[in-house]
Amino acid sequence: MQILANADLSRFHTFSIEQSCQYLVEVKTVDHIKDVYQNPKWSSLPKLMLGKGSNVLFTQPYQGVVLLNQLLGKTVTETADSWHLHIAGGENWPDLVKWSIEQGYLGLENLALIPGCAGTAPIQNIGAYGVEFKDLCEYVDVLCLKNFEVKRLSAEQCEFGYRDSVFKHDLHQQVVIVAIGIKLAKNWQPNTGYGPLQTLDNNGLTAKQVFERVCQVRIEKLPDPAKLGNAGSFFKNPIISHQHFLKLQQTYPNMVAYSTPQGVKVAAGWLIDQCQLKGAAVGGAEVHQNQALVLVNKGKASSDDVVKLAAKVYCEVFKKFQIQLEHEVRFIGSHTETNLANLIETL
Ligand code: FAD
Ligand code: EPU
Repeated sequence: MQILANADLSRFHTFSIEQSCQYLVEVKTVDHIKDVYQNPKWSSLPKLMLGKGSNVLFTQPYQGVVLLNQLLGKTVTETADSWHLHIAGGENWPDLVKWSIEQGYLGLENLALIPGCAGTAPIQNIGAYGVEFKDLCEYVDVLCLKNFEVKRLSAEQCEFGYRDSVFKHDLHQQVVIVAIGIKLAKNWQPNTGYGPLQTLDNNGLTAKQVFERVCQVRIEKLPDPAKLGNAGSFFKNPIISHQHFLKLQQTYPNMVAYSTPQGVKVAAGWLIDQCQLKGAAVGGAEVHQNQALVLVNKGKASSDDVVKLAAKVYCEVFKKFQIQLEHEVRFIGSHTETNLANLIETL
């Protein structure tokens, strides 16, 4: 196990903001994870499992141990109608999607190019272009931090929702995800109902073609974290009541919204855009010029810059639409997870 003391985290999260942690440990096996959690020297320190850091903002120096997920391995079995992929938690998600299509295991193509580890995909039930992780998930293997045993959860037990799962609630900080199981039907059907995929002709369409279109759209729309630090959509698309929607629609007939069983889902990017916030900046943090839902680090942003900018966006959207945005990005404080509401009080 490689252990670094007082390590700089900027290379390990996609906002690429300088922030330190007391210890940084690469974990390559489940036993490594157990060793870190059971090490008596670290018993009083908080611990944080990190994948590729593409959905986190470290708001302060982290006074604990960061575990870098490097659990690797893929195995494939088959039944009469499906492929079953067992994937170790540290496998790179975008590489997995590309590999699966090359191998002829089809069905992950709409989830191409989403940064992160396979083991993090269940946590916010990653989704894009009409498909969510839950649609393909067979099971999730977790290491329980109470008894250090590995347990298999069915997809149903994961309680998946829009950018949500049991791992954000009852199992938060209770388990580490060590592997996932994905089930892909052998009789592949394209899923092209979502926005920019609708122009594809389903006749003779291949999964590789869907994969390529998704990659093309994403490259055009979203900034590349290797060039411009960001964590994807900063806020979730809020779900509001039908009544609230109808009232807003009278003033904003072009409001971008979709009906869901829970209420009306409104495009947060559109709300932020309507507040004329594209390009708004605080220090080195900026609302992305092409996609208002993405906050970027122009180079020298501090965590405070991003928090202050997020607070500005939150306040302006609330003032104009009476909608409270909820951030998708996970805020990691010095000892525990925190959130914008807590930090706004300290600004
Ligand atoms: P990290 O940021 O490392 O971790 C996220 C959280 O999960 C942290 O709280 C961490 O402590 C916890 N965690 C990590 N690993 C484990 C584990 N093994 N066990 C328990 N807890 C763990 N998301 C989408 O859904 N759809 C998109 O289209 C999308 N596009 C994006 C585009 C860009 C450019 C970027 C930067 C991000 C995008 N995201 C998207 C968000 C991100 O890709 C996902 O949230 C991804 O699943 C995060 O994976 P990660 O390994 O980087 O997680
Ligand atoms: N829009 C604007 N102005 C903007 C940005 C968007 O008017 O600046 C409008 C668009 O024109 C469109 C609508 O808002 O009509 C939705 O935009 P888009 O299709 O880009 O999707 P999104 O709602 O911004 C969501 C996910 C993305 C996912 C895409 C594709 C959330 C929070 N975000 O973005 O996921 O890739 O759909 O499915 O649900 C992520 O979670 O990090 C992420 C990138």
